[in-house]
Amino acid sequence: EMLPILTKPLIQYGVEEAMSAGMTTMAMVTSKYKQAIKNHFEPHADIESSINGTAKSALLDEVNHASEQCDFTYIEQDQMLGLGHAIYTGKPLIGNDPFAVILPDDLCTNKGDSVLTQMTKLYQQHPDHCIVAIEEVPMTEVDKYGVIDGELLEDSDDAYRVKSMVEKPSPEEAPTNLAIIGRYILTPEIFNVLESTAPDKNGEIQITDALMTLAKEGKVIAYKFQGERFDCGSVKGFVVATNAFAKVDGII
Ligand code: G1P
Repeated sequence: EMLPILTKPLIQYGVEEAMSAGMTTMAMVTSKYKQAIKNHFEPHADIESSINGTAKSALLDEVNHASEQCDFTYIEQDQMLGLGHAIYTGKPLIGNDPFAVILPDDLCTNKGDSVLTQMTKLYQQHPDHCIVAIEEVPMTEVDKYGVIDGELLEDSDDAYRVKSMVEKPSPEEAPTNLAIIGRYILTPEIFNVLESTAPDKNGEIQITDALMTLAKEGKVIAYKFQGERFDCGSVKGFVVATNAFAKVDGII
């Protein structure tokens, strides 16, 4: 999360995407080894006063903008027991409101509305539904993702009502090549469902399994977003993202 693409760490791109969708309450599920995230968003009076007025002050503005406009809260996930468990760990910070989940190693860009803004607009048309962002991936890569099967909503060519979803299937098992990427809008109902979601064969509680429970009630929509996603959790994706951002900025 703290690896930078050009001048900003991935976590900051995530926060800025949430801000672009009108969100200002940032709940971070971290671990005791990730203190750098909290440090990054906290004011640093000494550093700020030495940078202010220099050519580098613009870099500082971006962090300060987020710190001033948003409330940050943090909670530690004591064991790595899956994404569903991580999201459940955030429950005390979220309360009883719908919320978005951003996995910052999936870096998303778009010339128009950010991916989370697109999803927020869709949520407003379908309140009480969970929304997952999807993209087509090569069939050989489906085993890295949650994969959905569904039917296009009436009058839509990019939003599906999810009929089933499966976590990291083999290419033979996968119903489609529509892979979930790290953007979700979830209703607070998900917390009750997570409480009774059994761990998978690796002992992890998967958000995909919890969402499948809601999908059976027709309450999950998968949205093929406009824009591009970089898998910065892999070395290759990180390098591709760095190059793509450098080209956009005219650096290379
Ligand atoms: C998680 C989810 C998976 C989703 C992916 C998106 O997997 O479990 O369903 O497709 O994020 O990045 P992870 O990458 O944490 O293994």
